[in-house]
Order: sequence, then C-alpha cells, then structure tokens
Amino acid sequence: ALSKQDELKQQAAWRAVEYVKSGMKLGLGTGSTAAFAVDRIGDLLKKGELSDIVAVPTSIATREQAESVGIPLATLKEQPSLDLVIDGADEVDPKLDVVKGRGGALLREKMVELASTKFVCIVDESKLVDGLGGSKDAMPVEVVQFCWDYNLERLQHLPELEGSVAKLRMAGDKPYVTDNSNYIVDLYFETPIKDAPAAAKAISELCGVVEHGLFLDMVDVVVIAGKNGVEVKER
Ligand code: A5P
Repeated sequence: ALSKQDELKQQAAWRAVEYVKSGMKLGLGTGSTAAFAVDRIGDLLKKGELSDIVAVPTSIATREQAESVGIPLATLKEQPSLDLVIDGADEVDPKLDVVKGRGGALLREKMVELASTKFVCIVDESKLVDGLGGSKDAMPVEVVQFCWDYNLERLQHLPELEGSVAKLRMAGDKPYVTDNSNYIVDLYFETPIKDAPAAAKAISELCGVVEHGLFLDMVDVVVIAGKNGVEVKER
C-alpha cells in the first residue's frame, strides 16, 4: 500500500498524464513523483489508450524505468522539439518558479524541459514555499570535478547567495557523482533567496559550474495534490 504522501504524488502524476495525447513527443522527469507518471504512461500504452508516443528520459534511472514499462525512447538529437514534459520539483514558489535536482538529475532535466513546448510540474503540497530556498533543504549546483572545492568556495561567497552554506553532496564516504560524471554542491539557505534571477545569473557565470537547480520562467502548469484534492495552476 502507498503512504499518504505517495498517494498524493500519484494523484498529481495521474492528473498530469491527462495532458498526454497519442502521437506526442514527451520528456520524462526524474524522481519519486515523476516515476508515477512514467508507470502510468506505460500502462496506458499497454492498454492501447495511448499510442505513437516517443519520449526522452531525463536520467539513466528514468531511462531504465521507461524501458521496463515499454515506452519507446529517443535522444534530444533525434527529437529536438518535444510537446510536453512531466517532472517533479523540490520547491514551488507562488510565481511557479521551482527548485529541482535534489535527485541529482538537474542538468538533463533542464535540457529536456527547455526543449519542450509545455512543462507540467507535479508535486504534493509539501513542496510549496513562499520563496525559493525557503524549505531549508538543498538547492543543487552541478560542478565539474576539477577544483570542485575552489568552486564551492566561490559559490559560498557570491553576494547574490548571501546567507547560504555550501556543501559537497556525498554518497556514503565518496562524493556523489551525477549521470554526467560531475559533482554536486548543495546550497542551504537561512532565509529564501532574495533575487532568484540574480542568483541564477551569478551562479551560471562561474566557470566550472555546469548547471544549477533554479528553474525560473520554465514551468507552464503545476499540478498540486493535497489533502483537499488536486489543484492545477497555470502560469
Ligand atoms: C531530480 O533531480 C529532481 O529534480 C526531482 O524532480 C525532484 O527532486 C523531485 O523529486 P521527488 O518527486 O522524488 O520529490
């Protein structure tokens, strides 16, 4: 049986899959919420309620899951313009800007989401924040391995990230390594980020930073599942 929170994740995912129509080119998100959408799409293909779908996965884990449920896959090279991507998020603010990447898949997620006409984000209500960074949990930055500790210091001291603490993400006693063979520096904020676009720009300008978890002006629809039902918010 699913936990209460997993039930909410599933409700958000299934609602978002209603946007999927036969013939669409999809992006498939990563994480525990997106996994419910991937399973659902596989089921609908099996039942014949959907057909002629092709999808680009946002991680190795999602690729493996999609393969296991029979979703035909492609690369961004083969399908450079997608109709719809469904993916989870770690934080959603009132403007529908989001933090992503606590699962480590931020780079491929951002590439696939920028290639898509529509981005439907699926969350349970625990992900809602007043301002990005406000959950006190990690805002990830993917950095190349070379001199990662130098870049960690530079991130730590960016004025646009004032009040944040930077930590290298670990997997046991070794640094966590992304699907793209990079490291992740997680930023933790005492208070929400004051100016998220300025922070995003300052982070991106550091040489050796590959991508960050601020996904601004990217989400078109957020499906939020809560104990009082499912709410759909459009930008
Ligand atoms: C993966 O790197 C992330 O961006 C996920 O989309 C995000 O962490 C949400 O994951 P959950 O649905 O597991 O909370």
